[in-house]
Amino acid sequence: MNKVLYISSEAYPLVKTGGLGDVAGSLPPALLKKSQDVRLLLPAYPDALSKTGRHRVRVSTSCYKLPVKIIETRLPGTKVIVWLVDCPAAYNRRGGPYTDERGYEWHDNALRFAIFCHLAVRLSLDRYGLQWRPDVVHCNDWQTGLVPALLSLYQNRPATVFTIHNLAYQGIFDQKIFAALKLPAELWHIDGLEYYGQFSFIKGGIAYADKITTVSPSYAREILQPEYGYGLDGLLRSRAKDLSGILNGIDEKLWNPGTDPYLAKKYNRRSLNNKMLNKTYLQKALKLPVGTSIPMAGMVSRLVQQKGLDIVLQSLPDLLALPIQLVVLGTGDARYEKELSEWSRKYPDRLKVIIGYDEVMAHRLEAASDFYLMPSYFEPCGLNQLYSLRYGTLPVVTHVGGLADTVVNTVQQTIDDNTANGFVLHEHSASALINAVQRALALYGKPKLWRQLQLNAMGRDSSWQSSTEHFIKLYQNLVGHIDDPG
Ligand code: ADP
Ligand code: GLC
Repeated sequence: MNKVLYISSEAYPLVKTGGLGDVAGSLPPALLKKSQDVRLLLPAYPDALSKTGRHRVRVSTSCYKLPVKIIETRLPGTKVIVWLVDCPAAYNRRGGPYTDERGYEWHDNALRFAIFCHLAVRLSLDRYGLQWRPDVVHCNDWQTGLVPALLSLYQNRPATVFTIHNLAYQGIFDQKIFAALKLPAELWHIDGLEYYGQFSFIKGGIAYADKITTVSPSYAREILQPEYGYGLDGLLRSRAKDLSGILNGIDEKLWNPGTDPYLAKKYNRRSLNNKMLNKTYLQKALKLPVGTSIPMAGMVSRLVQQKGLDIVLQSLPDLLALPIQLVVLGTGDARYEKELSEWSRKYPDRLKVIIGYDEVMAHRLEAASDFYLMPSYFEPCGLNQLYSLRYGTLPVVTHVGGLADTVVNTVQQTIDDNTANGFVLHEHSASALINAVQRALALYGKPKLWRQLQLNAMGRDSSWQSSTEHFIKLYQNLVGHIDDPG
């Protein structure tokens, strides 16, 4: 049994802006079930405080002269112990974990996450006498990047793992901020936290962690190339022997069409006909023409370039000329929100655009749609295609990252061997997207075949089962290695 401190800036259901929240809310409970003594460390945002039950103050201290407490609670619905870093000056605000209510980055994000990292380091070294010292500190994304860097300065320290969920977000700040945060000068060099004269949080994770993982095997290979490396491919290549890709799993209780409380009609592989009642329910709710045979495409997404919004917009004139309905749920870049909304006003019977973050609608749309659009430029793992597969909603995806690792293109051979479960674009372009949707529509017209594709999709194992085993093996190797006096 390993003691694992799992550190994340979000975790469902306490706080979530995207897939990291889903992973940090479901991997720790899955590890706990496999007898790992895992604790989750999160900033005490107002939602995290209000959505948790009993609170117990374990530590009262300060960081950068600001009062900080460590509050112990549990992740709702699980036995996972959560430690909340309660620094009201940093986290007690209205708005999101990274941005204010208008969507602008918090001006003091470097300080906010430096506090988080310092507390993580002190807890990792059991500085407060909590009688719990992790064997492994598992960090996620740039907000936790200083932890491996700071821990590297201690001889007797836990092992560190850094998981990259998205290399496009790096936590880059001015050098002056590095100085103002009084971080150890020995970390400031090109193989350390310096990045072209600036201060990089994510480099702390990539340069100093004992092991680096990312969230799919394909993305682990892609980020070694300049095209996907976001300026860090050189550093990643230098660490290639310590880098591996471990595919995300999903919370199979939360994303299960057979028990999903948000659905108008629950269904499973044996009652797949009920799926279409979710479509008619949504059509009525959204004031779209109602009909079970009208194919519906769905999209639930951060509206950012990564997700291929450019090609979606370019292909709209052709897509909306097809006999389909398209429903998009998302928030993000103002220009995408505006353009999509304009198109939906022009085509009210074909396109519905819901601007906002709506967990319930996300479930309903996954269940209602016949196929799901995810033409990402890059996709470290992607969870929505996994939810789609589970809901018998066939994903239409680009051949990148986790999409390439989970979606099997429908061609004669994969139809014959019952592995086909979606549609893969042959290149990243509007015409390839239109072509893939046309292919999907042609097969939608063959109900027996379509049903088989849905069954293939729903039969895919997206549980954490095999990935937790990979993580445990990784932890095990590290702990053995670090404990080895030689
Ligand atoms: P990413 O983390 O890059 O945003 P993922 O596919 O890994 O992409 O995960 C996205 C998660 O966020 C999914 O759980 C998805 O349902 C959810 N999500 C994204 N946008 C919205 C939204 N507007 N409303 C509700 N859920 C959303
Ligand atoms: C990131 C990636 C997404 C991945 C998620 C969880 O946000 O963009 O592909 O699924 O993290 O790992």
